[in-house]
Amino acid sequence: MIIVIDGPAGSGKSSTAKEIANRLSIQFLDSGALYRAITYLWLKADKPDKAIFFENLPTVKLQAQYRDQTFFVQANGEDLTRKIRTQDVADHVSEIASHKAARKFVNEFMRNLVQKDAYIADGRDLGTAVFPDADLKFYMDASLEERSKRRFDEMKSSDSSITLKDVKENLRSRDEKDQNRKNDPLKKADDAVVIDTTGKTFEEQVREMISIIKENVNIN
Ligand code: DC
Repeated sequence: MIIVIDGPAGSGKSSTAKEIANRLSIQFLDSGALYRAITYLWLKADKPDKAIFFENLPTVKLQAQYRDQTFFVQANGEDLTRKIRTQDVADHVSEIASHKAARKFVNEFMRNLVQKDAYIADGRDLGTAVFPDADLKFYMDASLEERSKRRFDEMKSSDSSITLKDVKENLRSRDEKDQNRKNDPLKKADDAVVIDTTGKTFEEQVREMISIIKENVNIN
């Protein structure tokens, strides 16, 4: 069983998906974290030539697990859970995620993972490209102002140098790149339920989505 939530950066997909996973006792998968992990590896290797980097990508041992309200990511045994939440990673992730080889690697990893359990996953192209037959698809959106504020509040504890202006500019430019890239761009699936969270409380949006899930999906 797979429920997907797509939408632009900072629309609240991950926190909402996590909360829904907790309340329905299912697993959570953060696909953006996997693209961030690859980006972190590329930055750590000092931005090597992408053709060579992507050629070696299949040898990376990626691991992901949701527990204690946290989506843990490891690559080759190194815990990247916090290291992928920096501005440097955010500034380069769209560039890395636009490459076919990165998408193939992440998609194969995710399709394998979800076979083992019931999942709610969040991303950009899950309903359109990765899981076109998902049991239920949501598309979450909110104004750029609201999304920037939320993302800034989330990041300021792990990166004290960031400003709200930087976060807003990063979201705007990432949305543009994610929507306009050739390979599987951010796009609402035709059969996705749209949830606009501008002005809604977290509790309101979680309840609304859970009630749609209960109407449409047999969770057990
Ligand atoms: O959800 P996030 O902001 O952590 O995602 C980071 C980046 O990863 C995002 O800017 C684009 C990319 N991404 C993607 O291309 N496809 C996905 N399914 C999820 C994320």
